[in-house]
Amino acid sequence: MADAAKTISGVFDGKLAYDAAAFKAAAETIRHRSGKAMVESFPAGSFGAPSAAKVEIDQSRGEFAALARHLESLAAALSLAADNAPDGITESMRMAPGMAMGSSSLLGKRAGSATDADPSKMPAEHVFHLILQDCTNCHAKFREKRQ
Ligand code: HEC
Repeated sequence: MADAAKTISGVFDGKLAYDAAAFKAAAETIRHRSGKAMVESFPAGSFGAPSAAKVEIDQSRGEFAALARHLESLAAALSLAADNAPDGITESMRMAPGMAMGSSSLLGKRAGSATDADPSKMPAEHVFHLILQDCTNCHAKFREKRQ
C-alpha cells in the first residue's frame, strides 16, 4: 500500500510519468487491501507484538470497518479515474485551487463532510488526498507507533 501511494503521489507531483495502467494498478492495490479484506486481516486475538495493530481495533470495530470501507470506495474512484484518462492526467483530475484539505473551508465552516461526498464526482487528486487522510487517521488511532 505504501508503494502504491508513493506511485500515485509521484504522478500528481510530476515526479513520475503518468501511465494509466500503472496508476490503475496502484489504485487497485489499495482497493483490494482495504474494505473487507482489511477488516479480515485483523481478527480478534491478532493484536500485540510483533503486530503494530492495536487492540483498540477490537474495541471499535465499527469505526475501523468504516475507515477501511471509506478507503476502498476512494480507491475504487481513483481506479475509475484511470480508466477515463488513458492518455494522461486530465484537467478534471486535478484539484481546483481552494479545494483545500483539512477540516475547515475558507468560510470557516465545513464544506460538507468528505466522508459523505461521492468520490466518483471529485477530482482524482482530491480523492488521493482523502486517501492519505484515511491512512493517517486509521494509523493514528489503530496502529502502534514504532521508533
Ligand atoms: C482502517 C485502518 C487502516 C487504514 C485505512 C490504513 N491502514 Fe495501514 N495499517 C493499519 C494497521 C492496524 C497497521 C498495523 C499492522 C500490523 O502491524 O499488523 C497498518 C500498517 C501499515 C504499514 C506497515 C506495514 C507493515 O508491514 O508493518 C504500512 C506501510 C501501511 N499501513 C500503509 C498504509 C497506507 C499507505 C494506507 C492508505 C493508503 C493505509 N495504510 C491505510 C491500519 C490501516
